[in-house]
Amino acid sequence: MNLPPLVPPLKCQGIKTKLAGEIKRLADSQEFDRWIEPFCGSCVVALNVQPKRALLSDSNIHIIRLYQEIQSGDLTPASAKAFLVEEGEKLRTIGEPHFYAVRERFNARPTSLDFLFLNRSCFNGVMRFNRHGKFNVPYGHKPERFAQAYVTKITNQIGRIAEVISVCDWTFAVADFRQTLASAQPGDFVYADPPYAARHVDYFNSWSEADETELGNRLKQLPCPFILSTWHSNEFRTNAMIEQNWNDPRFHLLTREHFYHVGSTEDLRHPMIEALITNFPAKPAQWEHEEAEQLAFMERPAKEYSA
Ligand SMILES: C[S@@+](CC[C@H](N)C(=O)[O-])C[C@H]1O[C@@H](n2cnc3c(N)ncnc32)[C@H](O)[C@@H]1O
Repeated sequence: MNLPPLVPPLKCQGIKTKLAGEIKRLADSQEFDRWIEPFCGSCVVALNVQPKRALLSDSNIHIIRLYQEIQSGDLTPASAKAFLVEEGEKLRTIGEPHFYAVRERFNARPTSLDFLFLNRSCFNGVMRFNRHGKFNVPYGHKPERFAQAYVTKITNQIGRIAEVISVCDWTFAVADFRQTLASAQPGDFVYADPPYAARHVDYFNSWSEADETELGNRLKQLPCPFILSTWHSNEFRTNAMIEQNWNDPRFHLLTREHFYHVGSTEDLRHPMIEALITNFPAKPAQWEHEEAEQLAFMERPAKEYSA
């Protein structure tokens, strides 16, 4: 029986909650001592793969600080609950001006609790920072956001992930992907989920085709197995970088349709085909019934998708 995925307390664009099970299935087919994730984001994949040892890094200091504080016990379910109840009550009575007061406070002196509050009450749960690194997502217009049930849900999420982290040897680090990948050794396993080029560009997410190609070259030189997440196509276009970087029999491409719920514009909400690229033979999931068929990845040769 498949357990529901463990859900992290943070939401972000490109969150891989729906792919975590498939990524775990592929990772479980390989032996490794340490999991490396250079673009860990919400950490939903690591939280569901649950490797004993891991290096989880991201360029976004606010994400990493929050996980470091959960790990150290500085941020607990109880402290999050007390904070969200108090700030949630202010949001309920004061409304929009309170959201912007917290945003201003966070941008002057960032704290993990303010980050959590903003992440869960901003428009569509988007995580976006301006070019000066200031959080700039507008209010989500839900003054009742932090009702008791919602606060309980968030604090339970923090509690469950604190439990997972406490029994694992995980390091959270603020780092550029180049630095993280440089530390990979034989015996490691890399899962790379970079921003999608030309989407969600911001302070922590300025991702170009040159970055994509450099990442591809660095992955190809790794001494260990890897999975790369990328987008394959949507109704408007196909990702030409797949053909350009990965059309080689050493690499394997699996695809699956995936719908993004986190997106600030209609454009970001169109269904898109997700792709996973591996440097080890990756078998598609066994299809047992029709429902599983819809969810299963399909292996396709990279060249079938030339633009
Ligand atoms: C698509 S998101 C990862 C989502 C994550 N897999 C999840 O499921 O939540 C990409 C992440 O890459 C980070 N990032 C962007 N540029 C980076 C860089 N040069 N080095 C490291 N991390 C970077 C962003 O901050 C963002 O969290």
